[in-house]
Amino acid sequence: MARLKLAVLISGRGSNLQALIDACRDPAYPAEIALVVSNEPDALGLERAKSAGLAAHVVNHRGFPDRPAFEAALTALIEKSGAQLVCLAGFMRLLTDGFVTRWRDKLINIHPSLLPAFKGLDTHARAIAAGARVAGCTVHFVRPAMDEGPIIVQAAVPILPGDDPATLAARVLAQEHVIFPAAVRLIAEGRVKIVDERAEIAEGRPLAPDLVNPAF
Ligand code: GRF
Repeated sequence: MARLKLAVLISGRGSNLQALIDACRDPAYPAEIALVVSNEPDALGLERAKSAGLAAHVVNHRGFPDRPAFEAALTALIEKSGAQLVCLAGFMRLLTDGFVTRWRDKLINIHPSLLPAFKGLDTHARAIAAGARVAGCTVHFVRPAMDEGPIIVQAAVPILPGDDPATLAARVLAQEHVIFPAAVRLIAEGRVKIVDERAEIAEGRPLAPDLVNPAF
């Protein structure tokens, strides 16, 4: 079966990109990376892409007069690559309604909280400050409002006494690297359907048994 072609958009470290690269190395994984784009010229993720032999492009938002012009350049690259699913992997630019509509239901994001809790930045510090006992991460389809949209996969981790944002972020990040490739797999297998703005996962095999989190 043909593998689903991915475009991965990054801005920095690219550890979630790396998780996708590693998953795609397995010939049985139903997706492959057709394109990596960073808006930041010195993103570490670009090196990861090059090391994996992937097409890596810089589209520096600073070189465009406005967001729509920047996004038109992104869309042109994505279309040219033949990508069928766009994965935001630590992509730190807000997207206009126009871009989100162009890629509706073909655009996913990973966010380091259990949405709908803690949208936006500094999620770990806010979760600790709120006294939350559980944190986690979410892969969801993108809608125009920030960090909103049908939830595909989530993973939870405990918040432990003495955690600071860095220790919690590391615990959550390990789960991000599990659920991002898991969500892409579900989509590539055609098992995700959006009904009334909720993502339904079709039966077929147990839903990602590897998501059982040993931290609990
Ligand atoms: C991750 O925590 C992701 O959830 C958030 O930005 C961070 C990106 O990390 N959206 P990396 O660049 O994938 O290492």
